[in-house]
Amino acid sequence: MQQQVRISPSILSADFAKLGEEVRAITEAGADYIHIDVMDGHFVPNLTIGPSVIKALRPHSDKPFDVHLMISPVDPFIQAFADAGADIITVHPEAGPHLHRTIQSIKATGAKAGVSLNPATPVEAVDFVLDDIDLILVMSVNPGFGGQSFIDSQLAKIERLRTMIDRSGRQIDLEVDGGVGADNAARVIAAGADVLVAGTAAFKGGPAQYAGNIRQLRGLTA
Ligand code: DX5
Ligand code: ZN
Repeated sequence: MQQQVRISPSILSADFAKLGEEVRAITEAGADYIHIDVMDGHFVPNLTIGPSVIKALRPHSDKPFDVHLMISPVDPFIQAFADAGADIITVHPEAGPHLHRTIQSIKATGAKAGVSLNPATPVEAVDFVLDDIDLILVMSVNPGFGGQSFIDSQLAKIERLRTMIDRSGRQIDLEVDGGVGADNAARVIAAGADVLVAGTAAFKGGPAQYAGNIRQLRGLTA
């Protein structure tokens, strides 16, 4: 069943020179999760942050850290991200040869396990792991950068995943990441998403705007 909509601001769009303050500000503004994009310059053409930064940010928010790993290989780093304070660890099926094993190793740390589907990755990639996962992340842009445009074909994928999740009877977050803003959030939710990631749209205008930005993503007036 579609759950209450939650907003997971991506700190990729925050001011990296004051990341702790930014995480505190977005938490106070009403974020439900904190989305942290980890990139390795190999799986995706960009480099961001690693476990030591996540560990340093951990005291700045009591919200779940929603850690999106865009790295390959991923298995050798899972424990380090869990130890740093990740509550949800999401991986891409293309990041390694044994997705089921990777999911089990995430769960063994006590973190929740997520699987992320790139725009061209079919929904069938999660068919046989539905019983093992807590979150599915639909990439509505190609991973690597903030500020890209939403790829409309992903709405049909969100709808299909909504049906699959409902049939499974399990509580699995259906999260959408990339190009989500006040202009399309309602369509993404109508398609079946219950967690919206937003970088640009959540952090635009600086800290005084964050609460209004988050309210707009929820479909409320600023
Ligand atoms: C892209 C990242 C996204 C990105 C979203 O690889 O996974 O989380 O930061 O940024 P916006 O909302 O600006 O598209
Ligand atoms: Zn992300």
